[in-house]
Amino acid sequence: HGTSTINSRNHLEIGGADTVDIAREFGTPVYVYDTALIRERALGFKRAFEEAGISYQVAYASKAFSCIAMVQLADELGLSLDVVSSGEMITAKRADFPMERVHFHGNNKSSDEIDYALELGIGCFVVDNFYELSLLQEKASSRKQKVNILIRTTPGVEAHTHEYISTGQEDSKFGFDLSSGQADQAIEMLQADEYLHLRGVHSHIGSQIFDTDGFVLTVEKLFQEFQRWHELYDFIPEVFNAGGGFGIRYVEGDEPLAPEQYVRDLISAIKREAENTGIDVPEIWIEPGRSISGDAGTTLYTVGSKKDIPGVRRYLAVDGGMTDNIRPALYQAEYEGILANRAQEETSETFSIAGKCCESGDMLIWNLPLPEVESEDVLAVFCTGAYGYSMANNYNRIARPPVVFVEDGEVDLVVQGETLEDLLKNDLPLPSRAKA
Ligand code: LLP
Repeated sequence: HGTSTINSRNHLEIGGADTVDIAREFGTPVYVYDTALIRERALGFKRAFEEAGISYQVAYASKAFSCIAMVQLADELGLSLDVVSSGEMITAKRADFPMERVHFHGNNKSSDEIDYALELGIGCFVVDNFYELSLLQEKASSRKQKVNILIRTTPGVEAHTHEYISTGQEDSKFGFDLSSGQADQAIEMLQADEYLHLRGVHSHIGSQIFDTDGFVLTVEKLFQEFQRWHELYDFIPEVFNAGGGFGIRYVEGDEPLAPEQYVRDLISAIKREAENTGIDVPEIWIEPGRSISGDAGTTLYTVGSKKDIPGVRRYLAVDGGMTDNIRPALYQAEYEGILANRAQEETSETFSIAGKCCESGDMLIWNLPLPEVESEDVLAVFCTGAYGYSMANNYNRIARPPVVFVEDGEVDLVVQGETLEDLLKNDLPLPSRAKA
């Protein structure tokens, strides 16, 4: 998919670069991004809004994969940016990302993070709860600073996805509840505030969603509220942010819509409900993360040890695992892969791909069809561009791998791999040894 092909050396090629050469040059594991595919996905979302002549923002959700180069690319593509921490904000700052296009999310923004966001002058806060609201009221008025606000609501819609990544149902840690009047109260508080400007409403129903039923239902529910808020408070949202969650194809059987189609369905639901309720069509914002960076990423590993259990299973261990991709262990997420150095050979058997961590659950793929594999072969695992690097960790004191961007045969290192020294950099010796 994307710009990946198999070249005359029978190697997997991404963005015009031979992945076996990339593995040799940068070592493994390494995350390889097909930059053209990131562009294509981002432009797909934007195109649908432009065709419909609707005011919009497509905010890339940093949490899926953030680094300075990725944020710079998002800027180049005219995207906005969803951030959820000071770390994601400082990345935006260092990338010179226009702060007015930064949206700050989170269900427990700290006082320091709020200060930092105010200092940076970010475009809007997506306010999640009353504690945050009172902190913001205090800070904005003492700084005499105008701040744009969306309120995050939980529309009571269950997206059909893994329970850990489904967020729209009422019993959720995120956002103001609609049915118990929390959202109403937040609106009243915001309307009475001199510095906080309520621009609109946000909802995010979940992640890796394959159809638009949940979005349509959310739109229907929210427009009922919009109508009520119009009558009660004379409040009409200028902005409706529908969140992210658009699915991608990890494995056969996953059938996501094209980015354009998610947006087209969303727009038509909004237009219809606007008509039904007499509420003006608001500016529409979305926050795709996975669907922009996910399928652009491929992880390359080197195969090491093998273990055959006759008649049961053949294990292949690679030089990474749950430290660079925790999704299989955390969500039973599934992936596909091929041998990058023998890309077109007949698959003869199935192998189960184990990581190198001291955990039985550290398995990347069960029963992957591959040719007869030798140690030192390079395994490419597809669709690791979202929540791979961003959820990477140092379990077993394993260093995080580097990240490269590839386009037109050009390979650019955008995140260096961690060194052993990096792993030690925050450690302090036992006080008695330090004195000695
Ligand atoms: N907006 C909000 C408010 C979110 O909470 C999220 C994701 C997004 C946008 C972006 O969602 P996306 O388009 O990437 O699905 N670690 C999990 C996914 C957690 C998603 C959390 N929120 C995974 O690896 O599947």
